[in-house]
Amino acid sequence: MKIKALIFDLDGVLVTTEHNHFVAWKNTAEVLGISFDEEDNEQLKGISRVDSLKKILEMGSKTISEEYFNELLLKKNEFYLNSIQNLNQTNLLPGVLELLKKAKDMGLKCAVGSSSKNARFILSKLEIDTYFTAIVDGNDVSYPKPHPEVFIKGAELMGVEPSQCIVFEDAQSGIQAAIKGGFVAFGVGNAALIDHVDYYLPNLIEFSLEEYA
Ligand code: BG6
Ligand code: MG
Repeated sequence: MKIKALIFDLDGVLVTTEHNHFVAWKNTAEVLGISFDEEDNEQLKGISRVDSLKKILEMGSKTISEEYFNELLLKKNEFYLNSIQNLNQTNLLPGVLELLKKAKDMGLKCAVGSSSKNARFILSKLEIDTYFTAIVDGNDVSYPKPHPEVFIKGAELMGVEPSQCIVFEDAQSGIQAAIKGGFVAFGVGNAALIDHVDYYLPNLIEFSLEEYA
C-alpha cells in the first residue's frame, strides 16, 4: 500500500480531550435528570455537539424546548472549555508528536478531520497546528460524522485520493465515515472498533509509517 497522506481525528486520537467531553456531557445529563455513564458516552464519541445532546435526550426519553436545547449546548461548551484551560503538549496522546515529525520528514501531508468546533483552538493550544496542511472541523461541514464529508474535504485540500490516505479514528462514527469515504481506516485506542476497521492500533506508537508510505 502506498500512502500519500494521513488524516487524524482530534479528540481521542491526537489529544486526551475525549474524557473532558464525557465529564461535561455527564454534567448536562445530570441537569436533565438522565443517567449517563462511560458506556453511554461511546455513542457520543465523534458525533457533533448538537447530535450528542439529541442522543442524551433520546436516552432519557425527554423532549425540551429549542431555547433550552441551545442554552444547554452553550453551557456544555463553557464547562468543557473551562476544563481544558490548561491543555498543553503533555496532553497529546502517545506517539502523536513523533508521528507528525516523521510524516513531515518523509514528505507526507497531514490533516485533521474533527467534528469539534473547538478544533483550531485546541490545536493551537497544543502547538501542533503548523504540522497540518488542512484542518477541517465541525464549522466546515454540512453533514457531521458518520458522513464522510469531513475526511473528503481534508483529502481534497491535500490533493490526494481517499484510497491514498489513512484515517486514524477512535470512534465508531468516525470509522464509519472513513470507510464510507473510501479511506484506509485505522482504529486507535478503542478495542471495541477491532471488528470494524481495516487495521487496529492500541496507540500511535505502534504505527510504522515506513510500512505504508
Ligand atoms: C468530537 C468528539 O470530536 O467532537 C465529541 O468526539 C464532541 O465528543 C464533538 O462532542 C463536538 O465537539 P465540540 O468541541 O464542537 O463540542
Ligand atoms: Mg475522536
